[in-house]
Amino acid sequence: METLKAIQSRNSIPFLEEPAPNSKQMLEIYKGALRAPDHANLRPWKFIEVRGEARNRLGETFLKTAINLGEDLSSEQKDKLKISPLRAPMLIILAANIKDHPKVPKIEQIISLGAAAQNILLGIHELGFAAVWRTGKMAFNSEITSQLGLDDNFEVIGYLYIGTSSGKEKPIPEHKIEEFVEVWS
Ligand SMILES: Cc1cc2nc3c(=O)[nH]c(=O)nc-3n(C[C@H](O)[C@H](O)[C@H](O)COP(=O)(O)O)c2cc1C
Repeated sequence: METLKAIQSRNSIPFLEEPAPNSKQMLEIYKGALRAPDHANLRPWKFIEVRGEARNRLGETFLKTAINLGEDLSSEQKDKLKISPLRAPMLIILAANIKDHPKVPKIEQIISLGAAAQNILLGIHELGFAAVWRTGKMAFNSEITSQLGLDDNFEVIGYLYIGTSSGKEKPIPEHKIEEFVEVWS
């Protein structure tokens, strides 16, 4: 039941500050990530950790990607994009390492990485840290794949922004379970 309580109390927190989990804590979290369900054991998971100064490099990469995608950005929008990785002390780029398999389509491999990402969010919550999953224009396109130096078969499916909650947290939404669940008899 402890696990269920932790799952139920996870909250996405966009307002993040130092500290982020250290590398020893991340090791435990990645062990959890690698327990994601995975059809045919393809291991379609790649996590790229970006901390400190490297976040500026990621910001430059975002800007270059947007320009190459033909985005018409004002100088203000360019600056905003460039500093967007600084919104958290640490980010994890979620890149699906898509493999050709007769029985396992791309969508299943992306779902598996999504499950791994959720395991990371839960691990982070369990250790008292906070995070939010973001996508936007810097995901699901071949330009960002190439700008990140990944091979063509990779699909960037999003970014986990990770740190410590600054205290500004929304209430956990309450759902009517019956709106989402149907029981056949
Ligand atoms: C695949 C995916 C992509 C998302 N992309 C964004 C995003 O780009 N920006 C954003 O503000 N929230 C994004 N979200 C939503 C937040 O991560 C979060 O789920 C939402 O704010 C609701 O909060 P909760 O997870 O605590 O219910 C995304 C969620 C998922 C699953």
